[in-house]
Amino acid sequence: MSPQGHLHVTVFPNDRVAARALARRLADAIAEQPSLVLGLATGRTPIRLYHELSHLVSRGQADLSQVRTFNLDEFVGLDGSHPGSYRQFMQTHLFGPAGIPAEHIHFLNGAAANLEEECDRYEAAIADAGGIDIQILGIGTNGHIGFNEPARELCARTHRVALKASTRHSNAGLFGGDEAAVPKEALSMGMATILRAKSIVLLATGKSKVSCVAQAVQGPVTTRMPASFLQLHRDVELVLDEAAAKDVRDSERSQSIG
Ligand code: PGA
Repeated sequence: MSPQGHLHVTVFPNDRVAARALARRLADAIAEQPSLVLGLATGRTPIRLYHELSHLVSRGQADLSQVRTFNLDEFVGLDGSHPGSYRQFMQTHLFGPAGIPAEHIHFLNGAAANLEEECDRYEAAIADAGGIDIQILGIGTNGHIGFNEPARELCARTHRVALKASTRHSNAGLFGGDEAAVPKEALSMGMATILRAKSIVLLATGKSKVSCVAQAVQGPVTTRMPASFLQLHRDVELVLDEAAAKDVRDSERSQSIG
């Protein structure tokens, strides 16, 4: 465990087992508190988690009909019906299959006329919902969480951000592989918005995440590695597969499964 904080690191043999275990845990938390407020992430990593969660719903082993959701980020210039939007990604991978009613879904509107007001509206909506109970995060290979990219300074609140070329490249798949079609800006929850969640689960799998995961867990807390700020939170768990956990020291692992 990190000397600064309370990072729990759970390591599963592979990404499938990790996603299945996390889906079951979320289903249990939702059974206990049906109108739980979930913070959600896009990206390739959580697709398997959303699939497992939807599977539990279809088998009658989870009920997400009362859950309220807030996603981390959205592209500027796209409204939620655009096929490349994160709102549509979530509709495809979770909201549709898991039967989450539209009125329980909160999303940043990248096509809002006034983007600053939109960021303020989102912060207020999170507060009105009583705050985020469980925030699911992914991690970029450069250590970003949401669109909080490594920098000299990080933004605390929900804000507008220019996307790095590497980030636009990794999102090209949502735009038929056409990198030029990826919007140049996004709206993102800020670091304080994320850290105000009551509990946080970061899911990272695969060998491309070895270095950022090791730095986030056992490196210094620095704006150059935004995920390292999670060390300062009281209730964070990193759910990893063996591939992503390769450089996490045994002394940092709370649990290894399988
Ligand atoms: P990935 O993205 O799951 O596609 O690796 C993670 C992220 O950038 O947050």
